[in-house]
Amino acid sequence: MGYRRLGGWGLRASEISLGSNNFGTQVDRPLAIRVIDRALELGVNMIDTANVYTGGKSEEIIGEALKGRRDEVVVATKVGSPVVSNNPIGGGLSRKHIMWQFKKSLQRLQTDYVDIYYLHRFDPETPLEETLRTMDYLVREGFVRYVGVSNFDVKQLEATWRTCEELGLEKPIVLQPPYNLLRRDIEVEVAPWCESHGMGVAVYSPLQGGLLTGKYSLGAQPPEGSRAAYNPIYRERWLTAENLQRVEKYREVAGQLGVDLRELAVAWILSHRWVSTAIVGASNPAQVDENVKALEVNIPQSLLEKLDNQR
Ligand SMILES: NC(=O)c1ccc[n+]([C@@H]2O[C@H](COP(=O)([O-])OP(=O)(O)OC[C@H]3O[C@@H](n4cnc5c(N)ncnc54)[C@H](OP(=O)(O)O)[C@@H]3O)[C@@H](O)[C@H]2O)c1
Repeated sequence: MGYRRLGGWGLRASEISLGSNNFGTQVDRPLAIRVIDRALELGVNMIDTANVYTGGKSEEIIGEALKGRRDEVVVATKVGSPVVSNNPIGGGLSRKHIMWQFKKSLQRLQTDYVDIYYLHRFDPETPLEETLRTMDYLVREGFVRYVGVSNFDVKQLEATWRTCEELGLEKPIVLQPPYNLLRRDIEVEVAPWCESHGMGVAVYSPLQGGLLTGKYSLGAQPPEGSRAAYNPIYRERWLTAENLQRVEKYREVAGQLGVDLRELAVAWILSHRWVSTAIVGASNPAQVDENVKALEVNIPQSLLEKLDNQR
């Protein structure tokens, strides 16, 4: 396993982190614990979750799996997505909601601190100062080691940074955006901004939920047990003819390199020096092994250029 610093900060994350948004549903508790065990055995040191994943089950499973080894792992969780409908304080980034949900996350994770606490998405209705002062308090009191932000655009990053500088508050050290061969928009503004501000980038959905493993083909039924088989929203949004044709082209490139498409997809992400870690989800331990194999792949410059031209 390779390790990279999160931007200009001291925290070092494994190049592959473990995602957990399927723990407690498709992946039941015992299987999820085996997935976590295997990831840690292979050198993964960062696990990503959120208060909203599987109604809190994901955090609970991680808490159980990390008993006795909590300090050896970077645990990242998030706040801000709606958790209680029809309740004006049931989501968002107000001080009230953050403090409520933070307490719940600690209980579920069976811990007294969180390593990276992400703002899950920008909240246009709460003053940034309120949110960032709350996060600053959590860091100063020792409950949170680092602040992160997720799904922020450049304007939102800029406003966050400026507010922290003006008020002397703890700055976010990492952005968590989507990024993969099919979703490259952060390359234009967001990634250069992060690089120039020393902010780490922990990218999510590097395999686009499995599409970039090559397991789905035009006209074929999704394999049994796969995300597309059980999640109609995912199937309709991502298994389009256009996407599947693009995936075929990437599969050809992978073939030229003599590797699997999923290896190419993850290795390509890590070929960008501004990426700190790729947060890959897995539904069994074998997938973790397969995904970590991507670290052995070195993509030659000529193929990187070819991939750039296929955007
Ligand atoms: N911040 C945010 O807003 C946000 C949003 C989304 C995700 N995330 C984070 O990012 C993590 C990863 O995202 P993701 O799960 O959506 O996407 P992903 O990592 O691109 O895809 C993971 C899925 O691909 C399939 N897969 C993985 N390895 C495989 C292999 N070797 N062979 C075949 N299939 C394989 C598995 O699904 P099946 O086996 O079911 O097909 C697995 O659940 C999440 O768990 C979460 O922690 C964050």
